[in-house]
Amino acid sequence: MGGAEGVKEAAVAYIVAEPCIKCRYSDCVEVCPVDCFHVGPNFLAIDPEECIDCGACVPVCPTSAIFAEDELPAPWVEYVKLNAELAKRWPVIDKKVEALPEADRWKDVAAKRAELDLG
Ligand code: SF4
Ligand code: F3S
Repeated sequence: MGGAEGVKEAAVAYIVAEPCIKCRYSDCVEVCPVDCFHVGPNFLAIDPEECIDCGACVPVCPTSAIFAEDELPAPWVEYVKLNAELAKRWPVIDKKVEALPEADRWKDVAAKRAELDLG
């Protein structure tokens, strides 16, 4: 593969995982240089085609929800597919918005998959 267009070579995007659900703090959106976050009712998804793997979003997430795909904890592997699918359906978000009303309460809830609203 030639790198003439400057596109990434490896398909190892960053993934938003379960801790984002019902929180959606959106600090991650502020730092993303390529606007690859998409917003749903109570979760954000990263478009793996657009993510340039810079890692800037990882340390700013208050719930530590974002992982490089190859470092994603095993229980959350389905989020690879979910990010790709949901990013196609949901609109781009390029500015921070208010966190969800009960974000601070849900921040410490470990298992939230059943709460994911697919919109
Ligand atoms: Fe955006 Fe970089 Fe995070 Fe990918 S890794 S979603 S490009 S901030
Ligand atoms: Fe979700 Fe963390 Fe971003 S909670 S919206 S991944 S800052």
